Amino acid sequence: MQASIRCTTGRLNGRTAERHDGRTTGHITHCPNHQIKTEKKSADQSEQYKYRVAMSHISYLIILFYSYLTPFFSPDYSLSVMSAVSEPVAIITGAASGIGLALVKHLIAKGWRVVMADINDVAGLQAAQDLGSDRVVFHKTDVGSWSDQVSLFQRAWQWSGMGRLDLLVANAGIFRPDDICDTGSDDTPKEPALEVLKVDLFSVFYGLKLFVHYSKKNPQPSGKVVVTSSPTGIYPFPFGPEYCSAKHGVIGLVRSMGPRLQKQGIYINAVLPGFVLTGATPAAVSSLVPEDYLTSLGAVCKAYDMFVDDFTHFGQCLEVSVDKVYFSNPPAYCDEAQAFITSEVWTKLD
Ligand SMILES: NC(=O)c1ccc[n+]([C@@H]2O[C@H](COP(=O)([O-])OP(=O)(O)OC[C@H]3O[C@@H](n4cnc5c(N)ncnc54)[C@H](O)[C@@H]3O)[C@@H](O)[C@H]2O)c1
Repeated sequence: MQASIRCTTGRLNGRTAERHDGRTTGHITHCPNHQIKTEKKSADQSEQYKYRVAMSHISYLIILFYSYLTPFFSPDYSLSVMSAVSEPVAIITGAASGIGLALVKHLIAKGWRVVMADINDVAGLQAAQDLGSDRVVFHKTDVGSWSDQVSLFQRAWQWSGMGRLDLLVANAGIFRPDDICDTGSDDTPKEPALEVLKVDLFSVFYGLKLFVHYSKKNPQPSGKVVVTSSPTGIYPFPFGPEYCSAKHGVIGLVRSMGPRLQKQGIYINAVLPGFVLTGATPAAVSSLVPEDYLTSLGAVCKAYDMFVDDFTHFGQCLEVSVDKVYFSNPPAYCDEAQAFITSEVWTKLD
């Protein structure tokens, strides 16, 4: 049996000397790479060491096998793989009801496959089941949570057969005003409740970042993003300043990112639906709105079509009011100085 030489100091502490000096026999008294002391170990210990190394390699291979191959045996993957190549795949958030659910039905009818995302899993699972289609899958998601959205996109990518992700409709939204003027009677007012900003604004940044990441993996790196904003994203709305700010915010995002993303083959636009009767519209308000001021779900779906089916628009905002659509442009620059500072000077850095 060979004698084994083990380093006792230096970076190779605990590893046999033959790993770095190439010599495995004889009476080695120092390690040439590290100028370190060595000690002689018995041949038995060397055999044990080799056994441990072999076992760790086997464990590593088992972990690799599971992490790479498990997805291919999942029901999602096997269900999807046959149709993955031909049919476009969309993620729709806030898909369990209202505008989101109407869009799910609309896209399925047009031959899409849709990942329905919503925080309400009871309604979402029920809606997916009612659709009775293998073209949809529901994934419980709080869009205000980055990790939930990561998991949503991973699931969607897997379900698509790891081959394509064509569209994100960032639609989930809440209307939950917090009265800034109500400062209470305590010395210090309560912290404002800004959940609306998380759900209606931050979530769109999360989804967009993930969509850009996955769209690069598409066979043709490209895709569409449509964000559901609101007319309150361009007009003042004293009854819900948080909502109004969030909806303004997503328009800023869409207009800013439109031209940049278009260079990467991604077309981002926003739809601003008028007053649509859904779970989000309070009954007290609905009862005050004349019927001929209502916008139908059908009209809203047609507005989405203008962006989903088209490759000319990017960074655009489309208002839908009753049965008409209107492109909403940014305000004109007040003067040459602002035009230069806000827009032109930056292009010189490209
Ligand atoms: N209904 C209107 O008149 C109107 C007008 C303009 C804009 N919008 C916008 O349209 C979008 C859809 O609203 P709707 O009218 O269909 O309302 P809705 O309440 O019917 O649908 C919103 C969906 O979003 C889901 N949701 C809420 N918080 C979520 C979260 N954290 N994560 C994931 N999902 C969440 C809800 O469970 C619900 O299913 C919203 O962004 C809303 O602001 C609605």
